[in-house]
Amino acid sequence: MRVSLKTLTFNPIFKKAPIVSLQGQPVLLFTQQHTSLLMALEQKQIKVFSECRNGYCGACKTKIKSGSVTYHTEPLVSLGSDECLPCCCMPDGDIDLDLSADGVQVVRATAKHERPETANI
Ligand code: FES
Repeated sequence: MRVSLKTLTFNPIFKKAPIVSLQGQPVLLFTQQHTSLLMALEQKQIKVFSECRNGYCGACKTKIKSGSVTYHTEPLVSLGSDECLPCCCMPDGDIDLDLSADGVQVVRATAKHERPETANI
């Protein structure tokens, strides 16, 4: 069977996993194993205060520096255009959150032929 490059490029199965950054520092890839942005952040040991985890208390409200999200549960909290509730959303693409990356392992760019490095900052 022959598969064209166009088929591979436009097939949603091969959609790139969004990169989640904190204040410009890339820290993780959001994959299908994450059910919410909050879950992905917590797996990476990034602390985000939360309570209800269902979009109605607003405790996890976080500023978005760039990017956008889609909600799997409609939030009951009023949000600014630059805010999200990580407990009930997923990134639409690469996203940069206004959270501190202190103490978090970040991905650092290397030369083209080398593997990416990680480091604690
Ligand atoms: S934890 Fe309550 S809205 Fe996210």
